[in-house]
Amino acid sequence: MAEIGKDITHAAALLSEGKLVAIPTETVYGLAANVLDEKAVLSVFETKERPFFDPLIIHVPSIEAIEKYATFEDERLKKLAHTFFPAPLTLLLPKKNIIPDIVTSGLAQVAVRVPNHALTLELLKKLNFPLAAPSANPFGYVSPTEPEHVQKQLGEKIPYILDGGKCSVGLESTIVGIENGKICVFRLGGLAIEAIEKVAGKVELRINHSSNPKAPGQLKSHYAPKKNLFVGNLNELIAQHSNKKIALICFGEKKFTDKNFLVFNLSEKSDVNEAALNLFRFLRLADESEADSVLCEELPETGLGRAINDRLQRAAAKI
Ligand code: TXA
Ligand code: MG
Repeated sequence: MAEIGKDITHAAALLSEGKLVAIPTETVYGLAANVLDEKAVLSVFETKERPFFDPLIIHVPSIEAIEKYATFEDERLKKLAHTFFPAPLTLLLPKKNIIPDIVTSGLAQVAVRVPNHALTLELLKKLNFPLAAPSANPFGYVSPTEPEHVQKQLGEKIPYILDGGKCSVGLESTIVGIENGKICVFRLGGLAIEAIEKVAGKVELRINHSSNPKAPGQLKSHYAPKKNLFVGNLNELIAQHSNKKIALICFGEKKFTDKNFLVFNLSEKSDVNEAALNLFRFLRLADESEADSVLCEELPETGLGRAINDRLQRAAAKI
């Protein structure tokens, strides 16, 4: 199994040797490798069993560091960077030649972010290369928000998990880029659209729901538990599954009398940020429970509620 600890010097030494280390971020845990070491990057894809057409996000400690690896051609993206970083935000920028093609799956743009986690920022400052880091889960499964989640699924394949505690946001970063001169969101995530629009003006959504997406990583079925998951109006779902053992993932003040229900409340006080924090942990617990099926309530489409609903739709979709 992987060693779990808080030793940044050890993590930095492993990464410099081309090894993989799981790192904490405010969104989810990442499976990190030296961006400039193609062999190390290759082993990220292998370890996750991730298809090579799905490119990786690179993590840097500052905006100055971004400019070594990519160019800010668009002022709106630059403004977003200066307003928010470090933050649960990823920008798609024209890449410089120093970034190996394997990182971007051959695309001309690279996805970059400055994560908002003290330990990982300290680690990034120690290194003379950025870290390529997809979420530290097997491809297609729920993302990890605690060191133990990584240990359970990838612990036998990696030497070290840097322990930064529970993630403080709990949803992957929001991905923003430019298409035909328009500012577009390619993945809903931990930074709400409302916050982005206040800085950059109206954005367009390019959220792909097909099962053969042009933009990789937006596969229809993703973030998925193994059990059958149903998303929608909770009372209707309960009526349809009345004779089964069910796990309920709900939101807001709720009372259930049926003792056969295993209830997970995302936020009793109807706070979407608290719901984001709990979502992936509850999906895992429901998946590990004895329930036959998992029923999940849709959240209001405000703030992080939109990103949560997006993850739930993908988790419920079958390929
Ligand atoms: O919050 C996060 O973004 C986490 C933490 C670890 O930073 N990382 C993460 O990585 O969610 P991953 O690999 O699970 O998701 C990355 C997404 C994928 O959907 C991928 O297709 C997209 O980013 N992406 C990466 N590079 C891209 C590029 N050059 N152009 C378009 N999309 C890209
Ligand atoms: Mg992922």
